[in-house]
Amino acid sequence: MSNSEHCSHSQGVYLAVDLGGTNFRVCSIVLHGNQTFSLTHSKVAVPHALMEATTAYELFAFLAKQIELFLRTHHNDKFEAHLRRPSLQQYLDLGFTFSFPVNQLGINKGKLIRWTKGFDIEEAVGQDVCALLQKELDALNLPVIVAALVNDTVGTLMARSYTSPGKTGTFMGAIFGTGTNGAYVEKLTRVKKMAQIDAESDSASYDKSTGLMIVNTEWGSFDNNLKVLPDTPYDKALDTESVNPGIQMFEKRVSGMFLGEILRRAILALYEHKDPNVAFFRDASSADNDTSSTTTVAQDSPLYKQWGIDTSFLSIVEEDASDHLRITKQTLGKDLGIHAASTEDCVAVKTLVHAIGKRAARLAAVALGAVVISTNKLQEDDIVDIGVDGSLVEYYPGFEDYIREALREIPEIGLEGDKRIRIGLAKDGSGLGAALIALVASKAEERGEA
Ligand code: BGC
Repeated sequence: MSNSEHCSHSQGVYLAVDLGGTNFRVCSIVLHGNQTFSLTHSKVAVPHALMEATTAYELFAFLAKQIELFLRTHHNDKFEAHLRRPSLQQYLDLGFTFSFPVNQLGINKGKLIRWTKGFDIEEAVGQDVCALLQKELDALNLPVIVAALVNDTVGTLMARSYTSPGKTGTFMGAIFGTGTNGAYVEKLTRVKKMAQIDAESDSASYDKSTGLMIVNTEWGSFDNNLKVLPDTPYDKALDTESVNPGIQMFEKRVSGMFLGEILRRAILALYEHKDPNVAFFRDASSADNDTSSTTTVAQDSPLYKQWGIDTSFLSIVEEDASDHLRITKQTLGKDLGIHAASTEDCVAVKTLVHAIGKRAARLAAVALGAVVISTNKLQEDDIVDIGVDGSLVEYYPGFEDYIREALREIPEIGLEGDKRIRIGLAKDGSGLGAALIALVASKAEERGEA
């Protein structure tokens, strides 16, 4: 396509889609250029069958269909105009936030390395995910160009930079949601992979002018050999029965998709414990003198089903400060079909929840701290700005406090360093970030740089 023909961005509307976990989100963004933007978005759950589909087509055709529905609802004018008289002028640039490990080969080109977070579509591994999406968009005759491929952490970093207070640039974007990962700004000279690429080809097509590069760490796969990570029988069983055993071992201890499942396995093991003095849900006589009944666990209780406990359950229990843990009792009944649990049992459940949540947050601090230390950032800048997003940082009570507590315990960071680390929520940042990157990509294309 010639540069002059491709001028959709002049209308200021950018599309961004986000595939990264339980939901697929589509949004359009109008950037006002003064740190503000307006955003329209829609969200749909990705059907479980598509996460484990046989062909890549099944998933990507579903994604393209959602984009079509969004365009028809929110930008029907463009859509209709395009149908009446197809013209490249009408095309919208789309930033594709695809939050899985990718070998990125260009601004809108990247081959899937492996799936994470419960996705398992073998056929897509090794394929260019932008091409897969573009093919299905074209099949539906949609006026959309996949202009940029973005990891959600990079999107979060971009979004935080656009909206963060003051002049300090943002250093890192991190996600603690369904999955976990971080991306940060690195000095080009320290990116060994690029030095290798430079040595192999004399026309490496990337911009060296700033001397900086955003590195997507994919820290979810840190220590897959379990040299240092904690490992309990529940972690082990969760991993063995997952779709990707031995992979994403850090993520399996830190992110939202897994915390509920660790808890479920721990509760189940204690429920089935042979020693009646240890076993859960056996005897309702407890400190609150509620001797009325013996706990019942419904036969079809989600306690027996893999992924039966959602991480939101942990947030509710962690937060529960009600008398005799009334809220925990109710939630055990409502969510898990565990009725008339004693206060003592609820206290034990809360202790487990707290241990699992706090362990996750402290491990999160390890990842954040490692990047801050290895880049010497605290020595170089007064403020180290980090944009974060994801259900754990947003909803898990005290998650950031536990992170900070752990950061202060790291000698190289300490109380003083912790004060200079600014952590800010970049809510839904990956959508905005992807749109920003689509904009940068389309401007670069206009200048003939891409
Ligand atoms: C993926 C990352 C992503 C993270 C957060 C991980 O499972 O590998 O690419 O950034 O989840 O969504």
